[in-house]
Amino acid sequence: MAPPEEVDVFKVPHRRMKELVNYYCQKLSKTDFSSNRDLGNLLKSLETTFSEFKIHEQIENDCIMNKLQGRLEALSIQNEQVCDVHSHNQLSEMLELVAQGYRLVQKGEGEMTTYGKELQVALENFTQRFLPHMKEEEEVFQPLLMEYFSYEELKDIKSLVIKRHCLS
Ligand code: FEO
Repeated sequence: MAPPEEVDVFKVPHRRMKELVNYYCQKLSKTDFSSNRDLGNLLKSLETTFSEFKIHEQIENDCIMNKLQGRLEALSIQNEQVCDVHSHNQLSEMLELVAQGYRLVQKGEGEMTTYGKELQVALENFTQRFLPHMKEEEEVFQPLLMEYFSYEELKDIKSLVIKRHCLS
């Protein structure tokens, strides 16, 4: 069952993250990787997107996961999932792949099509992990938050999460 809107700390930011995923999937399908300009435009968009994903993760760590972990530890409850939630996200690797693409575009090197295929595979793999990751947060961590935080505490957490994402 979906949590009440006012204490759902993931719904609004995840709506934004899913929009970004849809946007890059569409842009990817329309990119001509042999075109310097097309690839440059895609890379610029991906740099912005993955930087936003990083900010999202940092906000979740600061406002949600660290608090949840602290609350569980105070109750002597071990939960490895909370500790590991963002440990395999590969956001830095994706940003490095984008930076690699920029270097190709700037040098005008003729390996852009090969790079494009690598980028496409990396994005598909990332998406296949990122969407279930958000689902896990919504279906596993939100119920844990509901269990260990009061309604008022969750309203405050949600408010801070929204404010820091600049989504209000
Ligand atoms: Fe909401 Fe950890 O992505």
